[in-house]
Amino acid sequence: MSETHRITLIPGDGIGPEVTDAVVEILEAAGKREGASFDWHRFDAGADAFAKTGEYVPKALYESIEQNRVALKGPVTTPIGGGFSSINVTLRKKFDLYANFRPVKNLPGLETKYPGIDLIIVRENTEDLYAGLEVMVVPGVAQSLKIITEKGSTRIAKFAFEAARKYRRKKVHSVHKANIMKISDGLFLDCCRTVAKGYPEIPYAEHIVDNTCMQLVMNPWQYDVIVTENLYGDILSDLCSGLIGGLGLVPGANLGTECAIFEAVHGSAPDIAGKGLANPTALLQSAVLMLRHIDEAATADAIQMALEAVYAEGKSLTRDVGGSTGTGAFKDAVLAALEGAK
Ligand code: NAI
Repeated sequence: MSETHRITLIPGDGIGPEVTDAVVEILEAAGKREGASFDWHRFDAGADAFAKTGEYVPKALYESIEQNRVALKGPVTTPIGGGFSSINVTLRKKFDLYANFRPVKNLPGLETKYPGIDLIIVRENTEDLYAGLEVMVVPGVAQSLKIITEKGSTRIAKFAFEAARKYRRKKVHSVHKANIMKISDGLFLDCCRTVAKGYPEIPYAEHIVDNTCMQLVMNPWQYDVIVTENLYGDILSDLCSGLIGGLGLVPGANLGTECAIFEAVHGSAPDIAGKGLANPTALLQSAVLMLRHIDEAATADAIQMALEAVYAEGKSLTRDVGGSTGTGAFKDAVLAALEGAK
């Protein structure tokens, strides 16, 4: 029996608590079978936390992540055009979670227009227009600062090449807009080129972001690892999730040198929140990444196999991927597949 893992849990809002509850139940069941146990430290963040504690990110939540070094997080709503700053961006900056690792891969049995997709987006997670440095210069003229540094660009490029090496990937593309933003994106590109020289066995290429969007729709199979800045990575992640069946599927890991927060690519989906329709797959696959991060490979493998068995069978799928099953029944199908695999 391995140690009990203390994990900070942030259910988030919108569909967050629905998918989080389903995922925790699956992890508990799989852990029990494979000898992994978890001690969940649960916290609100965002508007719900503010209502209870007067803080959007409670001090105790920061302390919990500092101590546990691992968190599983549901989506948190960010007000549009005003209100408090994004909780997601705040946490990524606070813990210097500079690398956002987002694998995009088809699930067995789920028919899409694009079979055979297997790519990784590596998104810089702390800089760019997400610095939140905005000002209304004079009425009618707004300015937003895009911050790109040599340090930030070099470390994300290294992360991407190291990931390519670790997962035996065949190519790294850096995605940029250095034709227009010659200084900021130019710096990002220079850093990628310098880092690429240290990995001569991994072919390296560069694509401009607008062309990349078209290429991803016409021929996504040409990509393997994409390394890019914060904003382009955000947009390309949603595009890529569309290639394999939607936002309900794609996981993510926010990684730094000290801590890691695992969360799906998707948001709080207010259009379906509270209806029991949300697909927990993206958060479940994020939890699988988390389990590998904390060296619980057997539990990770058991969950991934059960999840893939449910998709391969195709009878208990949620509405976003063409089925009619609700969140709870989907979770039950994964639990049954886990049980059946004993
Ligand atoms: P969204 O990702 O919440 O939803 C986009 C579309 O995908 C909606 O039609 C939604 O129903 C669907 N969808 C998303 N996840 C799904 C799931 N698990 N199962 C089934 N369908 C799913 O994006 P939107 O509407 O632009 O953002 C809503 C809120 O979420 C905003 O406040 C935004 O700031 C926040 N957000 C939070 C993130 C995070 O906490 N990491 C990431 C992205 C957005």
